[in-house]
Amino acid sequence: VRWLTSWGCAVQRTEPDNLPPSQFIRGGRILPDTTMRQTIRVSLGGSRLRLRLSNVFGTAPVAISRAGLAIPVEGRAGVSRIQTATSRPVTFDGLSTVVIPTGAEAISDPVALAVAPQTNLTVTVHLADGQAGEEITSHPGSRTTTYLVFGDHVDDLDLPGATPVDHWYLLTALDVPATAGARAVAILGDSLTDGRGSTTNGNDRWPDRLLARLQADPRGRSTAVLNVGLGGNRLLQDGLGPSGMARLDRDVLSRTGVAWLIVFEGINDIGTTEASVAGQAKVSGELIAAYQHIANRTQAQGIQVSFATLLPFGGNDLYDDPAGHREAARQAVNTWIRTSSDRIVDFDLAARDRADPRRLRPEIDDGDHLHLNPTGYRLLGDAVPLDLFD
Ligand SMILES: *[C@@H]1O[C@H](CO)[C@@H](O)[C@H](O)[C@H]1NC(C)=O
Ligand SMILES: *[C@@H]1O[C@H](CO)[C@@H](O)[C@H](O)[C@H]1NC(C)=O
Repeated sequence: VRWLTSWGCAVQRTEPDNLPPSQFIRGGRILPDTTMRQTIRVSLGGSRLRLRLSNVFGTAPVAISRAGLAIPVEGRAGVSRIQTATSRPVTFDGLSTVVIPTGAEAISDPVALAVAPQTNLTVTVHLADGQAGEEITSHPGSRTTTYLVFGDHVDDLDLPGATPVDHWYLLTALDVPATAGARAVAILGDSLTDGRGSTTNGNDRWPDRLLARLQADPRGRSTAVLNVGLGGNRLLQDGLGPSGMARLDRDVLSRTGVAWLIVFEGINDIGTTEASVAGQAKVSGELIAAYQHIANRTQAQGIQVSFATLLPFGGNDLYDDPAGHREAARQAVNTWIRTSSDRIVDFDLAARDRADPRRLRPEIDDGDHLHLNPTGYRLLGDAVPLDLFD
């Protein structure tokens, strides 16, 4: 069987604020004797599913004592209740337990559960011993609710009294058997791709809109969408998660069946660099070199890359500077993108205010003049030319 990644998320070391609530950290262990029920949404469907769990950022091996997949009640995202008839055990080499070494990922055996495209799916895991140490791998900006409860409740219909948190822990991908011609597009980005300003449990980030459009188009029906955005992320330097350059291998190249990559990242590099002529000339030059480097690396793997122009941030407290040095850097980067290829995505054109192109259109601004509301994310999803994926 050739496998294709149908769902994936970027992973990082969990910062203190995004760790599980304090009652789930004790005796030097994170999530001891805890059941975690999390929801993901597949992009393409399939009759068998293979789960990937990540311990890339842990500082000790993590033992999964039991895991299961199920369809949530009414097929809804972010609920703690499952349809028990759909519940399936997840095994690893035939066993219900697996120890994931420090720095590694584990892939499950295929699980027989048929899901349609865009299905919400719950993944429930129990960690008898939790994870030793102070680090756990996560995707903080899940925009989806996870439920934590003590004891082994993997097969339970519901998790009464569970504690809700809006983060994903240990999850990183779900594969389905690839049908003929099925391929994935991966999206490397920051909070604008991760969905800051979108609806929790609403799946209205821009890649979700792109997926819906692909599913509605006969030519796009076998294209999976992998959102590997990370909030606060920069392309060139670590900070909130490893830099985009550093995580390209893990979050994009190691996924199966990726044929296209969209890169929509650089605004946080510009925004956190000193607002001076020299500082901004340097960062814009480095971003362009990084884009070329990504293009060369992905080309070597047979992946076609498209760059998306960076959105305006005029009026944002942290990033906008009165002399416009950062705006000049944004323009330099966008000019390079627009002249680099005809396979680009012009998000700036779609989102900027016609009357004041240094700013977002007011009706799509989430309020901080940097992030978008759901209307804005829909507009970005609509601005991606589907013929990029022919
Ligand atoms: C997934 O969950 C969301 C939120 O509850 C819901 O709007 C959507 O319809 C669900 N998807 C499917 C295919 O049922
Ligand atoms: C990318 O490849 C081109 C053409 O082969 C080459 O000229 C350029 O130096 C490469 N750039 C990087 C950053 O690797």
